[in-house]
Amino acid sequence: MNATDRTVRTVLLGITGGIAAYKAVELASLLTKSGLAVDVVMTANACRFVTPRLLREVTGRPVYHDMWQDIGSWHTEHIGLAKRAKLVMVAPATANVIAKAAHGVADDLLSTVLLATGAPVIFAPAMNTNMYNHPATQENLRILAGRGCRIIPPDSGRLACGDSGVGRLPAPECLAAEICRLIADGEATAGVLAGRRVLVTAGGTREPIDPVRFIGNRSSGKMGVAIAECCRTQGAEVVLIAGRGVEVRPGCCHRTVVVETAAEMRDAVLANLAMTDAVVMAAAVADYRPVAVCRQKIKKQAGEITLTLIKNPDILEEISRWPAGRPVVVGFAAETENVLENGMDKLRRKNLDMIVINDVSQPGCGFDSDENQVVICRADGTAITLSRRAKILIAKEVIKHLAHIVAARQKEAGNG
Ligand code: PMT
Repeated sequence: MNATDRTVRTVLLGITGGIAAYKAVELASLLTKSGLAVDVVMTANACRFVTPRLLREVTGRPVYHDMWQDIGSWHTEHIGLAKRAKLVMVAPATANVIAKAAHGVADDLLSTVLLATGAPVIFAPAMNTNMYNHPATQENLRILAGRGCRIIPPDSGRLACGDSGVGRLPAPECLAAEICRLIADGEATAGVLAGRRVLVTAGGTREPIDPVRFIGNRSSGKMGVAIAECCRTQGAEVVLIAGRGVEVRPGCCHRTVVVETAAEMRDAVLANLAMTDAVVMAAAVADYRPVAVCRQKIKKQAGEITLTLIKNPDILEEISRWPAGRPVVVGFAAETENVLENGMDKLRRKNLDMIVINDVSQPGCGFDSDENQVVICRADGTAITLSRRAKILIAKEVIKHLAHIVAARQKEAGNG
C-alpha cells in the first residue's frame, strides 16, 4: 500500500468476461476522474475483451488479472486488494461470477478477493436475457442480496447477441454515480437503518369474485418497492409483502412474500411482525371484499346483478393498536379530495407515527407512475411537502424521517 492509498478512497472494480467489459473502461475512467483510486481486477475472460494495459492507462494504477502475477510486493495481493477497497463493484458481472460468489467458489483472483473483502459489494449483472432470467441466476442473485450485496439491475434493450430484452449493463455514468453516491453518503459503511428490521407492503390486493374475476386497484407496487430498496440501502433487513404482479427488483429486499387478498396480506404482515422495528404500508389494500366467492364463473344474465361487499380488516390499524412494544407504524393515504384533511384524519384515527399523503387525482403521480408528490406528516406535528419527483427520491425522504423516529423510539426504550 502506498501513501495515496491511505488518503484517497480506493474502490475495487472487478471486470468479468462479457461484451459489456468495454463499458467498464469508461467506468474506471469516470471513477478515476472523480478522485477515487481504482484498483482493477480482471478475470482471464475479461482480458479477451479489453486489455489490462488499457485499464492501467485509464486508472494510472497497476491492473490485476492473475493470482500468480509478480507485482513486486511482499503482500498477499488478494488480501491486500480486499482490505484496501472501500467498496467493490463487479461490472459487468457475468452469470458465472455471480454463481461463484453466491457459492463461495474462489478459483481466480477476483472470486478470491470477493471472498476476502469486508467492503460492501455491488454486482452489476450483464448478460443475455435468458441467462439473466434463468432460475439459477435469479436464485444466485437472491443469495447475494440476502448476504447484503447490492444488485444493480440490468437495463433492457438490444443486446450484443442480437436479442432484445433485459441484460444490458447500465450506462457507466449511472454506475459511477451510484458508487460516488454510496461513498459520499457514507452508506458504504453503515446506513441510518443499520441493524433494524423493516417490513414494507407494496402493490394492490385482489379480492376474488369468482374463479376468473376479482376486485383490484391500480397500484403497481413501485412506491413500496422504492421504500424497500431505500431501507435496504440504509442497512435494514427488509421483508417485502407484495401484491401479485408487483415487479420486485432483485436486491431490493431480503425476503419477499407474495399475497393476493387483503386477508392474505394481513396474515403475512402479522406472521412477520416479531422483532420488526418499523412497518411501512405503501400497499393499496382493498377496504371491501365480496361476501361470497362464487365457485363457478358467473354467467352473463339479463338485467343487473348485485355484488354484496363486506369490510376487510384494517391491517394498519391492527398493528398500530398492537399492545406492547409495537413497531413504528407508517401509513400511506391515497386521497382524491380534501387531501390533507383526510390524510391527517387517518394519521390520528389509525394511531400512526407517520403518514405519507398523496393526491392520487394528480396526473402522472400516485398509482402506476414513476413519480409521486406527497406530504409527509409525523405524529409530532412535523409536515414536509415534497413536490413531484421520482418515487425513489420520495422514498429516500420518507426513510430519513422513519430512521429518525425509529432512533428516537429506541432511545426512549433505553437501548438505542
Ligand atoms: O403502487 P404504486 O403504483 O407505486 O402507487 C403508490 C400508491 C398510490 C399505491 C401509494 O403511494 C399509496 O398511496 N398507498 C396507499 C394506498 C391506500 O390504500 O390508501 P388508503 O388511504 O386507502 O389507506 C390508508 C392506509 O391504510 C394505507 O397505508 C393502507 O396500506 C392501509 N390499509 C388500508 C386498508 C386496509 N384494509 N388495511 C390497511 O392497512
